[in-house]
This record gives sequence, C-alpha cells and structure tokens, in this order.
Amino acid sequence: MPDLFPLARPLLHALSPEQAHRLTIAALRAGLGPRFDLPADPILETQVFGLDFRNPVGLAAGFDKNAEVVAPMLRLGFGFVEIGSVTPRPQPGNPKPRMFRLPDQEGLINRLGFNNQGLAAVAERLARRPGRIVGANLGRNKDQTDALADYREGVRALGELVDYLVVNVSSPNTPGLRALQGRAPLSELLTGVTEARAGLRRRPPLLLKIAPDLTRQDMEDIAAVALSSGIDGLIVSNTTITRPDGLPPGLASEAGGLSGRPLFDMATSVLRDMARLTERRLPLVGVGGIASGHDAYLKIRNGASLVQLYTALAYRGPALVPAICRELAALLRRDGFSSVGEAVGADL
Ligand code: FNR
Repeated sequence: MPDLFPLARPLLHALSPEQAHRLTIAALRAGLGPRFDLPADPILETQVFGLDFRNPVGLAAGFDKNAEVVAPMLRLGFGFVEIGSVTPRPQPGNPKPRMFRLPDQEGLINRLGFNNQGLAAVAERLARRPGRIVGANLGRNKDQTDALADYREGVRALGELVDYLVVNVSSPNTPGLRALQGRAPLSELLTGVTEARAGLRRRPPLLLKIAPDLTRQDMEDIAAVALSSGIDGLIVSNTTITRPDGLPPGLASEAGGLSGRPLFDMATSVLRDMARLTERRLPLVGVGGIASGHDAYLKIRNGASLVQLYTALAYRGPALVPAICRELAALLRRDGFSSVGEAVGADL
C-alpha cells in the first residue's frame, strides 16, 4: 500500500483530532497503512535492556492504547511499539471534547483520561502479536484507590506477552496519579511492582515513565528510587501541564497534557538532568517533541538510548518514521560514530 497520508491529511484535519485518530486506527486495521521497507542499517542497531532493536525509534504510548495496530505500526519502520496505557478494567475516559490541535506549533493538548478497553481485551490481542519489540504501558483505573493493586494486575496480565513493561505514573489526566512520583509512594510502588514481576515465568524489563513537570528535588528522589529499586530504565517524558509562551491563548487554557514541538526543550532538559542524576547507570528513553532525525539525535546525545514519538505523526504522517531513521543514521556518520550506542550521552 502506498502512503495515503498526503492525500488524507486535509480530510483528517477537517475532523476533530479524536475522530481523525479513530479513522486512522480503522484504516490501519483495514490494511490501508503504508509499508516502508527500510534496509537494515547496522549503525542504527542497538541493544538496550538486553533487547535487540533494529533501530532506536519507537512509537510512544497513547497512539495504540488497545494494541489494535501493532503490526501496521511496525511496518512503518519503527524499531519498537509501545501499546497502552491499559488499565485493569475498561473505562471511557473524560467527557469529549478532550483532544485539541495546535497546528501552528505542531502540538496537541489531550485530557483523554486513560480511555481504553482494559487488560483482558488487550491481552487477547497481544497473544497474536508479531515477533518484533512490543512494550506495554500500564495505568490505573480512575476509581481505584489502591494504585499498586492495579499495576500488579497489569504486570501479571501482560508481563509474559510483551518485551518490556512501563509503569506510567505521569499522565496528568488521572487525579492523584502523578503524586506516585514522590519518594515514599514511588519506592513502595516499585517494590510492589518488581515483586509482581518476580512471580512471572518470563520477566520483562520494567521501565518507569515520568512527567516533565518536576522540581529538582523530585528528580533527585526519582533517580535515587529508580537506582535502588531494581527497575531497568526510565521514559522521559510524558506530556506537560505547563504552557510555554507562544501558544494560542484560547487553546492554551484547555486543561490537559501538552505534547509535540512545544514540549521538546523541556522534556530534553529533564532527560539530561535524569541522565546526570542516574550517572548513566539506567538506560533512558527520550520522548517529547521529536519531529526529525535531528531531534532524535539531540535526545540521544543528551542521554537517551532509545527515543519515541507520537504527536509529530499527526502532522507529518507515517513517512516521518523512515525519514527520521535515515537522517539519524546520516548524522551519526557525519559525526564519526559507528553506532547509536556510542552517541548516547555525547553532550553530557
Ligand atoms: C499520550 N501520551 C500517553 N502516554 C502514556 O504513557 N500513556 C497514555 O495513555 C498516553 N496517551 C496519550 C494520548 C495522546 C493523544 C497523546 C498526544 C499523548 C504521551 C505520549 O506517549 C508522549 O509521552 C508525549 O505525547 C510526548 O511525545 P510527543 O507526542 O511529543 O512525541
């Protein structure tokens, strides 16, 4: 199938962002997604958390919440795909409208609130997934007061079906969730979740996904807990509740998490701080505002072993994925690196 995005973009952008997303998922499920056959490029191959990635560019959580289009997304050329966030029970999320485009800034604001089909439906789909690298991002139901119980359930339900798991404590749209990033609650949570993982026959790497809206103290606490808890890495970062200057005021006042280009600098700065604070003993996944190979390269130079993106796909379409891979490979070669791994943290 050729890339229909250049034709479909005006139509998609005439719809609400959520309708456009639903139509995109339906089209991908119907086999209408393009296939980009990227020749394997050894400079992009990398081993992180004991997994072999054909390239370091992944799909961020939130695009395929219900694991419906894992294979079509891998065919775009992503080195890995992360599904979710999934909560134990299905839930509808917040009232609509709950997703807003900032076209001039290539940003999005969303307050979806973990709308998803729940662990059972997702587990059934993941049982038939392709062999390439797939991670599952776990969330907590809105009405659940015992967060640990929900994350443990997620670990047990999906842990043996995926290559890595993510504990997401950073979505701004579930009340109380981000408070789990504090030192004592985080330590308790990660102890409980790693225990649940120890009960699995196959134990996937476990990552923690954090917000960009953190004080220095928050970051120091997270780094200390992450290093002592036995988790395998951090994803930096989720969307921001802050509103950088220059956003259209009407939209900037919508509640929710901001993603895309306006998030890039902030998320990269937190990535850099976390790389320093964890003394490069934990692999980091850099996310937030990536829209080019150069952006991906900057994340890597600032400490990311892998990168992910979501929002830029809505503006640039799927051909962005192979374009990022090619540009990244060219930049690595230009600067004399022989592998992605060598460039990780080059600017620290
Ligand atoms: C997200 N993101 C997200 N993250 C997560 O951990 N669980 C989720 O369910 C979602 N859902 C979600 C929905 C929508 C509509 C968006 C735009 C984003 C956050 C996402 O994974 C990523 O961390 C940020 O969007 C920053 O990356 P980009 O979009 O700037 O490349």
